[in-house]
Amino acid sequence: MSDTFYLTTPIYYVNDKPHIGTAYTTILADVLTRYHRNEGQETFFLTGLDEHGQKVQQAAEERGVEAQQHCDEMAPRFTELWEQLHISHDDFIRTTEKRHKKVVRDILQQVMDKGDIYEAEYEGLYSVSEERFITEKEAESGEFRDIKQLKEKNYFFKMSKYQQALIDHIESNPQFIQPDHRKNEILGFLRQPLNDLCISRPKSRLNWGIELPFDSNYVTYVWFDALINYITAPGYGSDEESFNKWWPASYHLIGKDILTTHAVYWPTMLMSVGIELPKTIFAHGWWLMGESKMSKSLGNVINPMDLIDDYGVDPVRYYLMREMVLGQDSSFTMESFIQRYNSDLANDFGNLLSRVSTLMKKNYNGKIPEPGDFTEAEAVIKSNGESLGEVVKEKIEAMRLNEAIEEIMQYIRSVNKYMENNAPWKLVKEDKDAAGRVLYTAGEALRIGAVLLSSVMPNRTAILLDVLNAKGTNLNWGGLTPGNELQNHEPLFPRMN
Ligand code: MSP
Repeated sequence: MSDTFYLTTPIYYVNDKPHIGTAYTTILADVLTRYHRNEGQETFFLTGLDEHGQKVQQAAEERGVEAQQHCDEMAPRFTELWEQLHISHDDFIRTTEKRHKKVVRDILQQVMDKGDIYEAEYEGLYSVSEERFITEKEAESGEFRDIKQLKEKNYFFKMSKYQQALIDHIESNPQFIQPDHRKNEILGFLRQPLNDLCISRPKSRLNWGIELPFDSNYVTYVWFDALINYITAPGYGSDEESFNKWWPASYHLIGKDILTTHAVYWPTMLMSVGIELPKTIFAHGWWLMGESKMSKSLGNVINPMDLIDDYGVDPVRYYLMREMVLGQDSSFTMESFIQRYNSDLANDFGNLLSRVSTLMKKNYNGKIPEPGDFTEAEAVIKSNGESLGEVVKEKIEAMRLNEAIEEIMQYIRSVNKYMENNAPWKLVKEDKDAAGRVLYTAGEALRIGAVLLSSVMPNRTAILLDVLNAKGTNLNWGGLTPGNELQNHEPLFPRMN
């Protein structure tokens, strides 16, 4: 494992309202970064906003304000949500920032100097919603909205020149596009001749973009502009040491809808200027509302703020991470949210803390009892607890987060079972040492579970560790100190109806 970890989310369209889908990518990125940070790796977590393009220009015009002002007013909807969701990003990039515009112009000039940009008249199908020219086949797929025929003189990037090099790279680096079915999808796409990429707009039609360094009548916008954010932030062209430290990125996390732009446009752009390619582009699936697509026009978009207000941040993070099999689509329903909350968080996890702390308070003066001599039953809990960290690590590194969480929950369930089998509430009357041993073991197992879940639920697990007087402890068995006082607490996850 390398000792730096650089992870990015897509930069979100500033004009759109964040919803559960956009929040998902960011939470996933946060969980992964926190996990790697806890593992002792140095991490750099980047997110931000995509602010140029026709839609933003139009929205600003409709409101009668300058485009920049419009962006400035929209940006807090994202930054405030990330704060609410306890997103621990290291940098927040906006494509309208000077540092970014400078890098985009620099890259454009380099690609031009290399002979990879040419001017041509182009007529083709254009998707206004995606803000790019699309192929006939893409148009037929039904995935693109607002398609129109467009004829214009523009600048083009010779993407086709790098087609074979890209295929070779994908084939010799199996981790480059993940999951595998997405890699195969891109390899399939690359079996057809690759079109060159239109990278400009005449200012007469769109001025809310970055002026081309070699023709002031044109701007570049959206993809050629946006993708470059991933190298601007770590310091390309401004801080060589920092850039070399972080680049190539460990992961570009994206949704499946923006796979082609990331797995074809971006690597060919990097090849043209001779920058190393990112290690892994990982595409997750979509959150559906029940069976249907989440969309503004269907009016079925879940506002993450409302969920947080009603149920708290950690349960929302937990549900999204536990429920989605990375790479596949998942269905969001309030019923499954409540069910998951009650079964995993209230019944299994929260209840174990209440049982342990209540019994310790009642029978051991609110202090952690001595572990005493372990029997076979404790030895099993201890040894499973000691190997759990490794199991979880493997799952997370394979991007099987739902399975990692399930492993932890299965362990917690086995501890609840152990409590029931040994009934310390009865045992304490006959053999106080034996009951103390059971409570110590259950408390210690719960502590390990909390440490492992801390990247998913940073707040409630911190409370739990505080209650057990075990802040800052790690995965080594024995983090609970006998004689340490327990803190009072509210139920960690009160049951919901
Ligand atoms: N601005 C571009 C990305 C540029 S990156 C250099 C963009 N922005 S977006 O705001 O439309 O979408 C950002 C991300 O949100 C995408 O990864 C997309 O897949 C994700 N999601 C949007 N709706 C989603 C769901 N319903 N479910 C899961 N993720 C979804 O594209």
